Amino acid sequence: MVLPTVFADAARRAEALGAPALGTRTSLRVGGRPDFLFEPETEAEAEAVVRHCRDAGVRLRYLGGGYNLLVRDGPIRGAVLATRRLQFLEITDTQVRVGAGNSFPGLVKTAIELGIPGLPGCPGIPGTVGGVVFMNAGGRFGSVADALVEVTYLDPEGASSRRVIEAGDLGYRTSRFDGCLVTGATFRRDPAFTQEAAQALYDDAMKWKRETQPLSAKSAGCIFKNPDGPEGPRSAGRLIDEAGLKGAQIGGARVSPVHANFIENTGDATAADVHALIVKIQRTVFAAFGVELELEVKTW
Ligand code: EPU
Repeated sequence: MVLPTVFADAARRAEALGAPALGTRTSLRVGGRPDFLFEPETEAEAEAVVRHCRDAGVRLRYLGGGYNLLVRDGPIRGAVLATRRLQFLEITDTQVRVGAGNSFPGLVKTAIELGIPGLPGCPGIPGTVGGVVFMNAGGRFGSVADALVEVTYLDPEGASSRRVIEAGDLGYRTSRFDGCLVTGATFRRDPAFTQEAAQALYDDAMKWKRETQPLSAKSAGCIFKNPDGPEGPRSAGRLIDEAGLKGAQIGGARVSPVHANFIENTGDATAADVHALIVKIQRTVFAAFGVELELEVKTW
């Protein structure tokens, strides 16, 4: 059977690499060392890792680009499967299929050339394709859901599956793929969406983004979800700002002076600093407005 060989290959590579502290793999630059780190290059290798860990009773976590993740400082028990080597790009006249490990900013560039709706409105969102699909990333200029037609994934048992996307599969910063490993995504092309129109959308979105978000800071993007209010969602950033917290700092973690829903690592922050700042923000905003802020970032 081919499975043990494939697993052995993946395991050998993991061993050769050693398991680095996850602070080297997350945009917040915090996080401890897992027991094992696997970086499969094919879906078959990924499947072998999932099945092996399940059979061996080893807890397995999935890591995309690490852009929306807060990892604790101490050791991380169990294994991590990172998708960054799971890359491919298949282009037809009507669709583009792309690997979970492909860079999302790279796909956005491709979307401008190939006329994929929505994605050119997502500049300045770092990460991998798998991560942005899982989180349904996006904003006022466009989002992943606009053009996503199909997702391949491994279910929690490690079985390879395929899903044609239906209304309701993707929500606000959620998808139906909880507990699954997204391995690839297919986006539709729209022949009526010209390169000029796509580039103009990108430029507008990028200009706005540069003015309103701390793009070069070490951060995990927006930390909290926008809470529901009586007249629709309210901006968590605005609430934190109005609570007077812009620039508030604990250790090396600081509320961004540019957009208050970003926490920046100013250099030597620990996960504990970030966590303490999160709690301070939640308490302060609750005291000021009676609103409970819920984390958007995932925590390990
Ligand atoms: N505002 C402030 N102070 C701040 C931040 C915002 O007063 O510190 C005000 C703005 O001036 C604006 C309003 O709040 O009038 C809304 O702000 P913004 O347009 O920046 O949108 P947001 O609701 O704060 C959401 C997403 C962002 C996404 C932007 C743009 C969430 C949690 N945040 O932010 O997503 O980029 O819209 O579409 O949904 C992310 O998820 O990581 C993220 C950055």
